[in-house]
Amino acid sequence: MADPAGPGRFITLEGGEGAGKSTQARLLADWLGGRGIDCLLTREPGGSPGAEDIRALLVTGEPGRWDAVTEALLMNAARRDHVVRTIRPALSAGRWVICDRFLHSTLAYQGYAGGVPLPTLEALIDAAVERTRPELTLVLDLPPGDGLARAQGGGSGRETRFERKGEAFHAAVRDGFRRLAAADPERCAVVDAGGPASDVAAAIAAVVSARLGIAP
Ligand code: TMP
Repeated sequence: MADPAGPGRFITLEGGEGAGKSTQARLLADWLGGRGIDCLLTREPGGSPGAEDIRALLVTGEPGRWDAVTEALLMNAARRDHVVRTIRPALSAGRWVICDRFLHSTLAYQGYAGGVPLPTLEALIDAAVERTRPELTLVLDLPPGDGLARAQGGGSGRETRFERKGEAFHAAVRDGFRRLAAADPERCAVVDAGGPASDVAAAIAAVVSARLGIAP
């Protein structure tokens, strides 16, 4: 269901470290742009000035700097600001919003991997987003070893707090995303992120065409 805040449509990309979400978000925005659809590309944690300030607290420092409940509170504080100041205004203006991570990351990272009960997280997420929920969630799936190797090959060197949480944590994140997708197949689609970026982009375009009625 489209967001009641406006005529725009809301798509999220999810997945573990190094799955190529940011690249794919950009390619999807370009693909939609080529079909005359104006997109806002944004990310979490972040996407508004206040949420970007909170992001710096979350992604830097030692892995144990915050426990999983504190992470969930900070993530949802950032999310609230992002939803109110960035996502809803764009949807109201009729823009499509493509967001690199959103609520499923909280359920996978702080829930399945971090051990916070899912109902606790759902209550925090409800408060943060109310009815602003993605219509389509693309889960980019990759074995965590491959993703961590890719993630360590690039990106900002300081934003490594989650990458350093260890292989068992990242295996639980992957498992969590797959379970979340299986439990909500109408909203979620799992895409194999193991191939070249152009193949992944084509798979994503096929899902968006089929689910959202865009000509391929
Ligand atoms: P990024 O590297 O994809 O920009 O995301 C930063 C980190 O934040 C990433 O390791 C996943 C983590 N994260 C959570 O743990 N919970 C969340 O709700 C979100 C949005 C991100």
